[in-house]
Amino acid sequence: MKGIILAGGTGSRLFPTTLAVSKQLFPIGDKPMIYYPLSTLMLAGITDILVITTPGDLPQYRRLLGDGSQLGLNLTYAVQPEPKGLAEAFIIGADHIAGGPVALVLGDNIFHGQRFYDLLQQHLTGVRGCVLFGYPVTDPGRYGVGETDDEGRLVALEEKPKHPRSNRAITGLYGYDSDVVDIAKNLRPSARGELEITDVNRTYLRSGRAELVDLGRGFAWLDTGTPESLLQASLYVRTLEERQGVRIACVEEVALRMGFIDAESCYELGRRLGSSDYGRYVMDIAKEFS
Ligand code: DAU
Repeated sequence: MKGIILAGGTGSRLFPTTLAVSKQLFPIGDKPMIYYPLSTLMLAGITDILVITTPGDLPQYRRLLGDGSQLGLNLTYAVQPEPKGLAEAFIIGADHIAGGPVALVLGDNIFHGQRFYDLLQQHLTGVRGCVLFGYPVTDPGRYGVGETDDEGRLVALEEKPKHPRSNRAITGLYGYDSDVVDIAKNLRPSARGELEITDVNRTYLRSGRAELVDLGRGFAWLDTGTPESLLQASLYVRTLEERQGVRIACVEEVALRMGFIDAESCYELGRRLGSSDYGRYVMDIAKEFS
């Protein structure tokens, strides 16, 4: 399965901070935001990943992540000249997807929870149709919203409804079969001028091929769209990391645990990060494994 991280957009709700720096490069805890969605794809066992961002921001992503080989990944890059909607990712990424299944994760979505690895493996591997991940929130009108029947089957999807019919937000992690490219190509822009991911998902839903997986209350799905939510996400990550002494979304650790790199390479990656606590953590993890 291929992966796509969508890390474009203007970050206008975070102006002026995002005038010069891409939001998805902001630090959350002690690492760049994009490490979190990257870890999500890696935990799903995905190593072939396309990063889509703005023309101006692409060089910084390349500088941060390179070709991914240091993490046992194959990272490639593409630009989205303007933020014309999340579904454009499948049009821009059509060659990358190359007729197979694909997982899309938004570059500003942070997931954390026990057995996330199992959940991803179970639902993304061999996906038929589309798989969506739902999460209960107090403010569903800010998101895509899914409505289910008494048996928990998905029956309706709406984008940012004024009067949400459920509290179940559709998170920014999606799995699709190869039909997604044609579906995206046939979309018309919405009233706000974007190719909406919710319209892609509705197409699958209409043909009875959309599955909704609920992330339970033991999960954290964090938003980073506003200054407040950015701070909350950082506090959440730091609180857990300091309390437990483990790191969330340490991509070197994930690469090691997933078997993408060996302990020696992992140690070297930590050593290159020098005197930072993060670098020391990576070296310690590598030592545990060797
Ligand atoms: O976070 C989950 C939500 O993401 C879903 O529940 C919604 O259904 C979905 O539409 C989306 O809603 P947002 O309001 O969060 O979308 P936003 O426009 O903020 O874009 C999400 C991220 O994707 C953001 O980091 C910017 C990036 N982006 C956005 C657009 C529209 C792009 O890279 N390109 C784009 O064209």
